[in-house]
Amino acid sequence: MYTNRVCQKLHDEHMATLVLLERLEHLVANNNPPATADAGTRALLVDLAVAFESEVWRHFDFEEEHLFEYFSQSGDTEMAQHLITEHQQIKSVAEPIIAMARAAAKSGFQPAVWNEFRRLSRQLVEQLTAHVHKEEGVLVPLLQDSMENETEEQLYGVYVMGG
Ligand SMILES: [Fe+2]
Ligand SMILES: [Fe+2]
Repeated sequence: MYTNRVCQKLHDEHMATLVLLERLEHLVANNNPPATADAGTRALLVDLAVAFESEVWRHFDFEEEHLFEYFSQSGDTEMAQHLITEHQQIKSVAEPIIAMARAAAKSGFQPAVWNEFRRLSRQLVEQLTAHVHKEEGVLVPLLQDSMENETEEQLYGVYVMGG
């Protein structure tokens, strides 16, 4: 879909994030805590924690370190700061969710914890979905249009090949 491989990688990760958020939304649709004796539920809780800690935070760091500067270069200095602020807000909502998910995968949800998990999860789904759509709308097209081939190769190397 994108000729720039960094853009394609970002796009693929955004889509994977939306799929993860749909699974989370489905999990918290219920008033009652899920049966964590169920292997599928436990797997989802662990997947959620691992995906954020090993993929989503890495994606955020990469954007902040290497990609948001393209907004400043194109004269839009506020957008970079706006997206960084959203990253911070999303992290502060996701961190307690990750901790609760890990604990519940071992010993289930107490009703009060489940209510808090649902409340924060709905907030996370809303904020992170909007963030992804915003980046798909403005960041990815900007990079596709303005990133030099040489930079693409170097950043793809850093991000995907690990150097
Ligand atoms: Fe982002
Ligand atoms: Fe992103």
